[in-house]
Amino acid sequence: MGLAKPKQHRPRLRKQNASAISVREQVLADFGAFQQSGRWNPNPSGKLGDERDRRLYTQLLQGLARHHRLLEAVVQERLHRGIHLDPKVAATLALGVFELLHMERIPAHATLNELVGGVRQQLGIAPSRLVNGVLRNLQRDLETDKPVPGEQPLAVRTSHPDWMVERWMQNYGTEQAVRICEANNRFAGITICPGLGLNGRALQQLLAEEGVQAPPHPRVPEALLVEQSAGLWETRAYEEGRFWVQDTSSQVITHLLAERLEGSVLDVCAAPGGKSLGLVRNGVRVQAVCDLSTRRMRRGRNNFERCQVPCPPLLVADGTTLPLPTGSVDAVLLDVPCSATGTIRKNPDIKWTRSATELLKWLPLQSQLLHEAARVVRPGGVIAYATCSLELEENVRQVQSFLEEMPKFVLEPWSISKPLPTAWAGWETREGVWHMLPDDTTMGFYAAFLRCVE
Ligand SMILES: C[S@@+](CC[C@H](N)C(=O)[O-])C[C@H]1O[C@@H](n2cnc3c(N)ncnc32)[C@H](O)[C@@H]1O
Repeated sequence: MGLAKPKQHRPRLRKQNASAISVREQVLADFGAFQQSGRWNPNPSGKLGDERDRRLYTQLLQGLARHHRLLEAVVQERLHRGIHLDPKVAATLALGVFELLHMERIPAHATLNELVGGVRQQLGIAPSRLVNGVLRNLQRDLETDKPVPGEQPLAVRTSHPDWMVERWMQNYGTEQAVRICEANNRFAGITICPGLGLNGRALQQLLAEEGVQAPPHPRVPEALLVEQSAGLWETRAYEEGRFWVQDTSSQVITHLLAERLEGSVLDVCAAPGGKSLGLVRNGVRVQAVCDLSTRRMRRGRNNFERCQVPCPPLLVADGTTLPLPTGSVDAVLLDVPCSATGTIRKNPDIKWTRSATELLKWLPLQSQLLHEAARVVRPGGVIAYATCSLELEENVRQVQSFLEEMPKFVLEPWSISKPLPTAWAGWETREGVWHMLPDDTTMGFYAAFLRCVE
């Protein structure tokens, strides 16, 4: 299926030629480093002084990571077969195609001038002619409404590895796999949660006074949506800890936990403490925040301090050997390490940093963490097992195996005692687990509520 570019008026970009070229150079350097090392390490703040440049950098770099396979296909459609591209030329072409397809506000001539000029300076006349030829060809096709790209399979059209798409097709069926792949490419902002003593409306007002528009989330009442480019980190509201960033799914889960849990909660695999913050905000007593990583726990402590939320005891410990007596805990929130494929909307690099052979490497650890949580939970207590994975092995099947091995635990539907808000319809499955798949309003998330009945 082709993706014809809608014709739109392109406002002139502010006087940015001088700085934009350095933004693009930085993007190309960092994307090149990512391709070589497999490590995703974007860092606009260390390199680009101006906030608007940093925003452009993030948009362009994320765009390359999100659409890279498609961008390459669009380039290939315009090259003679068998041409070998220098990696720098290939990356420049991908960036040019991304800008022409997705950056409405950058005039096409600015993209062409700067990218072609950059290649001419660095690599010489011949490669710059090639870049010019490919980008002009694309520009013509877009102007004449020719479908771009031409016919391409789902994995290319939505820029995912073949093996990942095949896995989702097998696990969810073709229609759902298409929805997942398309949703993964539609990330448009971040979700924030109001701090202690604030509601969504009051926070929206505070941010509006500082020039940041943050409309309410369509499905989660207290959450607000902010476009990534909104200068949020420069606000007084951020400095004063009036909000923190928390995905929709985490906000929903902490809300549900607050409603359902009795007694206090041990948050295991907790750093940097996002869900603990949400729990405390919703009035839950958190017995301890536990994680193996001292570094991530330090970030957690800073988060609590910045947001002026009373920090529960911090416990740096291995969740597979907790320093707690058997049967001593009311509830465990276990937000295990996982493949994180549910977060591709926000972290598009995951498409390229995961491999088919390593995707499920966390399975044994997840199982050990579950069994240790089962040891410390008291009779009548619960484990909330959560992942941000779309892989059934890490969620549905992990829980099935646990229940087979531990018959004294049963799966308890989240909505057992209270009807769910209608806006959340479809997020809880008939089996009684919380299985959110990526769409326009959320990332992928899974949570099962396991009660110890003996
Ligand atoms: C999905 S993240 C947790 C996110 C956190 N719950 C939040 O909401 O901010 C998984 C965490 O598991 C921790 N972890 C990994 N292995 C662990 C282990 N054996 N014991 C305890 N924590 C572990 C990692 O350090 C990481 O912080």
